[in-house]
Amino acid sequence: RCPDCGQWDTLVEETRAPNPLPGITGHLASVSSEPVSIGAVALEKTQRLTTGIAEFDRVLGGGLVPGTLVLIGGDPGIGKSTLMLQALYGLTANSQKVLYVSGEESVQQLRIRSKRLDTVSPDLLVVSEINLAAILAMVEKFHPQVLVVDSIQTMFSGDLTSAPGSVSQVRESAMKLMLMAKKTGIPTFLVGHVTKDGAIAGPRLLEHMVDTVLYFEGESGSQFRLVRSIKNRFGAVNELGVFAMTDKGLREVSNPSAIFLSRHQQEVAGSVILVTREGTRPLLVEVQALVDDSPLSNPRRVTLGLEQNRLSMLLAVLHRHCGVAMFDQDVYVNVVGGVRITETAADLPVLLSVLSSLKDRIVPRELAAFGEVGLAGEIRPVPNGQERLREAAKHGFKRAVVPRANAPKKAIAGLEVIAVDRLPDVLELFD
Ligand code: TYD
Ligand code: MG
Repeated sequence: RCPDCGQWDTLVEETRAPNPLPGITGHLASVSSEPVSIGAVALEKTQRLTTGIAEFDRVLGGGLVPGTLVLIGGDPGIGKSTLMLQALYGLTANSQKVLYVSGEESVQQLRIRSKRLDTVSPDLLVVSEINLAAILAMVEKFHPQVLVVDSIQTMFSGDLTSAPGSVSQVRESAMKLMLMAKKTGIPTFLVGHVTKDGAIAGPRLLEHMVDTVLYFEGESGSQFRLVRSIKNRFGAVNELGVFAMTDKGLREVSNPSAIFLSRHQQEVAGSVILVTREGTRPLLVEVQALVDDSPLSNPRRVTLGLEQNRLSMLLAVLHRHCGVAMFDQDVYVNVVGGVRITETAADLPVLLSVLSSLKDRIVPRELAAFGEVGLAGEIRPVPNGQERLREAAKHGFKRAVVPRANAPKKAIAGLEVIAVDRLPDVLELFD
């Protein structure tokens, strides 16, 4: 029990390291070099290692940078170990040794998995180990080109007495592996477990320590797996890699727009195609809305793949500036395929789909939309409008509803652009 705040179970074990510089503690104690002018720092040309899995390399920002520490998180059974084994196998293509350390599976289990995945290579070394000191010694001895530690929650450092998986153990293990990666230049993947609410279990500060955080998304019921970069010191964030889980492991999906588009036999009300941009790539996804009479005094506002507060805000803007009220209606909005949309470009398509469902009016199948909606009822531009329009045209869309400022100066072949300024312009489309 903490004698200070009186809370139970809040104390965290710490190791007591000798302080080399008396009076200076923490991170600064290890910094001893002289400051130099930034231009005088030599620019080293970094060669990125590629895993041969194009979708994964893109999420990493174009391959692995030497000495980088990557945290890869996701729900149990989503495919973290599978992806790691496949990526390591890809790295053996230039005949260098790679090391897979598993704290969860025996080498027999790994062998069975690699048979199934067809990832057997003389350069792929595997070991079942949870003792951190032993792992560091192994790295010293074999000097692998890349290291995978699966998972960081199973690692155990003898310097601490707490159990593996505890906050202090996870932090200590990650810190030691980071120092190793920086010192030797060996790119290291840490597999991390994820709690039900989506946070990477153990200290959130793991996310601050590592260079790159990748996260598995998607519904486990679906065949598709999305890997998103949440943080990347060496590449774009929000970059999305799309995979399909097959009986032979993860297969890359190089044209993801095609899988996220619905395959309705008939056009239906409440469905609108959004052109989103995840990382560096535009993506077409379907937004569905259902507006229905509510039996509740406090009607439901439910979103899947979108922020719920954003929907409430959009409905308020719609009422205030267009007089369309939904006080007695439940509103459900879903992004098809388990994609999470984090950008505001979904505002306009969401409102279009809600209006389409409310009025039971079909939005034509060959129409795509994107745009932000402001509180003043204005339709605001979003970045990379041209690129989004080209993606829509590429997939055979004939019309696009976009913010005026995103309308291209030069026409795009085969695509009619409908530019809108304010929300009432959008409502007019339904007249
Ligand atoms: P796994 O990589 O073990 O998940 P994690 O390490 O994230 O916990 O993936 C296990 C799931 O993937 C399991 O439910 C079975 C499925 N799977 C396949 O469908 N095909 C395969 O070839 C493999 C190896 C696993
Ligand atoms: Mg696993």
